[in-house]
Amino acid sequence: MPGRERAKYLFRVARLIQERSRELAVLESLDNGKPIKESRDVDVPLAAAHFFYYAGWADKLAYAGFGPEPKPLGVAGQVIPWNFPLLMAAWKLAPALATGNTCVLKPAETTPLSALLLAEILQQAELPPGVVNIVTGAGATGAALVAHPGVDKVAFTGSTEVGKQIQRALAGTGKRLTLELGGKAANIVFDDAPVSQAVEGIVNGIFFNQGHVCCAGSRLLVQEPVAEGVVEALKRRLETLRLGDPLDKNTDIGAINSSQQLEKIRELSDSGEAEGAQRWSPRCSLPTRGYWFPPTLFTDVVPAQRIAREEIFGPVLSVLTFRTPEEAVERANNTTYGLSAGVWTEKGSRILHMASRLRAGVVWANTFNRFDPSSPFGGYRESGFGREGGRHGLAPYLGSPLDA
Ligand code: NAI
Ligand code: MG
Repeated sequence: MPGRERAKYLFRVARLIQERSRELAVLESLDNGKPIKESRDVDVPLAAAHFFYYAGWADKLAYAGFGPEPKPLGVAGQVIPWNFPLLMAAWKLAPALATGNTCVLKPAETTPLSALLLAEILQQAELPPGVVNIVTGAGATGAALVAHPGVDKVAFTGSTEVGKQIQRALAGTGKRLTLELGGKAANIVFDDAPVSQAVEGIVNGIFFNQGHVCCAGSRLLVQEPVAEGVVEALKRRLETLRLGDPLDKNTDIGAINSSQQLEKIRELSDSGEAEGAQRWSPRCSLPTRGYWFPPTLFTDVVPAQRIAREEIFGPVLSVLTFRTPEEAVERANNTTYGLSAGVWTEKGSRILHMASRLRAGVVWANTFNRFDPSSPFGGYRESGFGREGGRHGLAPYLGSPLDA
């Protein structure tokens, strides 16, 4: 099918996501536990935006910088996690379809519903049968999919542990692979940063989506002279967050996705206390049914503690301090991950200086957790490899003539 025809389908899918956005948002919050405010204003519009964006590329691939006649790879096997179920489906499907591949997508076992509704939308868009296949199931289904000999390219988003297993399983098969894995991002606040703006960015960085975010700003690095003031302002702000019913429009913090994830957050938070960090949470009552964890702040954190090193994937922030920009860079890069980072300062030159030294795929300046389909996203080191979004996001789904 020529690119201009593929584009029409992708535009249609994007429009249908917009038309059915309320249904998708409610379903996503019911299934995942995230606040409706977020699924309505972030997940669903960004999913539509992704299809719109890649629809625009479908008939322009010859000018994308991958040679005059870039070719699809064939069948893409795509495994996605539970933290942004619909958005991750869009991130996987839109570039794969724009480039002319077919897809087998496996949503996470705790959040398959929005992918199934998306399947209905694809039918409504009259996408030819077989172009997108959605298979539900747990880890074994994912393992069977990526190992299937009919699959030419694997795209995975999830834990570093499973990412490594997949990389081992694929070694020597000639299948192309991209991995988007965990993170332990530093959100760095300099002494000249506007405090109230930074506090909003810190809150958005770690409490958005209950902290179930691979690029979450889970390590706050504050310059010493302002550390006390920033932490005090942050505590005041956290007192105002509302935790509870994900379907209530005023809810800021929703439910933890699963008992397994809640257990992991509890265990790591307990280790923080046991290792000597100071734990603090605002006064907030937790609903009695379901899985909940209060927004939590750890101070007196040192880099060797587990809460400063391991991905918690929950609403838990570890606060560390630094004196000089050099120390900030050293502490920020002192991690096995490399997905994202944030810098808060009034100085433009300092932003550029930091961005060139931080080993992270995405560096935000005076903002955090901002996504746009035109901007490539991906990691270094144990955060994975390959980029999703932007022109870069086409590359993993295109073959060069040398592959043939
Ligand atoms: P996971 O990596 O086990 O699950 C992610 C997806 O991979 C799911 O669809 C799952 O069914 C599938 N999967 C599991 N085992 C597989 C295998 N052997 N082969 C192929 N597919 C497989 O992640 P899980 O257990 O849900 O979460 C554990 C931790 O991973 C979290 O606490 C968090 O730290 C991290 N994580 C990171 C994510 C990210 O966005 N980078 C997303 C989800 C989890
Ligand atoms: Mg797992």
